[in-house]
Amino acid sequence: MAFKINDSVTWVGKTDWELRRFHGEELSTHRGSSYNSYLVRGSEKTVLIDTVWRPFAAEFLADLKKEIDLKDIDYIVANHGETDHSGSLPELLREIPGTPVYCTSAGVKSLRGQYHEDWNFKPVKTGDKIDLGDGKELVFVEAKMLHWPDSMFCYLTGDSILFPNDAFGQHYATEYLFNDLVDQNELYDEAIKYYANILTPFSKLVTAKIKEVVGMNLPVDMICPSHGVIWRKDPLQIVNKYLEWADNYQENQVTIVYDTMWDGTRKAAEAIAAGIKEANKTINIKLFNAARSDTNDIITEIFKSKGIVVGSPTINKGVLHSIAALTDIAKGLNFQAKKGAAFGCYGWSGESVKIINGLLEEAGFELINNEGLRMLWNPDEEAINKCLQFGKEIGSALAG
Ligand code: FEO
Repeated sequence: MAFKINDSVTWVGKTDWELRRFHGEELSTHRGSSYNSYLVRGSEKTVLIDTVWRPFAAEFLADLKKEIDLKDIDYIVANHGETDHSGSLPELLREIPGTPVYCTSAGVKSLRGQYHEDWNFKPVKTGDKIDLGDGKELVFVEAKMLHWPDSMFCYLTGDSILFPNDAFGQHYATEYLFNDLVDQNELYDEAIKYYANILTPFSKLVTAKIKEVVGMNLPVDMICPSHGVIWRKDPLQIVNKYLEWADNYQENQVTIVYDTMWDGTRKAAEAIAAGIKEANKTINIKLFNAARSDTNDIITEIFKSKGIVVGSPTINKGVLHSIAALTDIAKGLNFQAKKGAAFGCYGWSGESVKIINGLLEEAGFELINNEGLRMLWNPDEEAINKCLQFGKEIGSALAG
């Protein structure tokens, strides 16, 4: 299916309504996704920007042929080598061999490494451009580590359209192509989840890249990312959101994440929540059983929080695996300026709280209480009171 975006740009991507996991099984995509590919026609030259994921290659090519004779594609731009955008290149280039593929030098490595093909690569750097005729140009901007070493943006002069690939995207399948037509809560739920789970480790680079692009003083009428909707109404709204999200973002929220075997750690979690509420009336408190909740949704809530409280009973001198996995993901995401606290029940050896404290510190959280809260067996009234006190200490530490 093709949709005309304006006189020169046509969307020729694939909307994937079924997708529920991405990056293998690593990332949940409750609302599906899209792989956005764009055909840009100048008066003299035609460019295809990115393709779609390999399972849809045949469908992509069949649809593309309805839109254009493939031989009329003069150039291909691969803004990023990840397979959700490059996966149809092998089939496409079998049909139009020799067509130049513009990408960064890191893009050459990633495409060669994945497909083992020696295509007609044209490595580009920031400021390089291709002329499409009548003064219309496609200008390249390297965007290293946003989010791969090979990532780049390109900008269409005249139409003032930025193609930033993954940046500003969302895993969000919709028949509406534009930001102003979709449910704004859904759109921002997916945009922040995407940022929190994929771009958080690169926040400093996000800020620097946005400042670099803004410093070029280019007008931006539309932002066409590689996933989700096109930002045409107030397109800079998502750029400004990214600047907020990249700047140690936090809302007035605390997230309590726990796992539990026989309900002791759950009861403690709820008592800690009550204690936080007593000491801090305005903070938004959210509780998640890590084993029963979507990991990426929890990560998004952690991203929004100023502090997290993590609980697990002790099992085999360790913690329950949902908590080990979650704290490991948090460590990789390198959250900044957030506080943390640990709690958990035990029956005999009781190592879990000390282990969680270590995991939180390794993940960059500042401990609110160096000891944490350990409870022997199922919490009794005295232990519940300790949870309330612990919660009050956390609530006070997160006030203001
Ligand atoms: Fe959407 Fe990094 O690929």
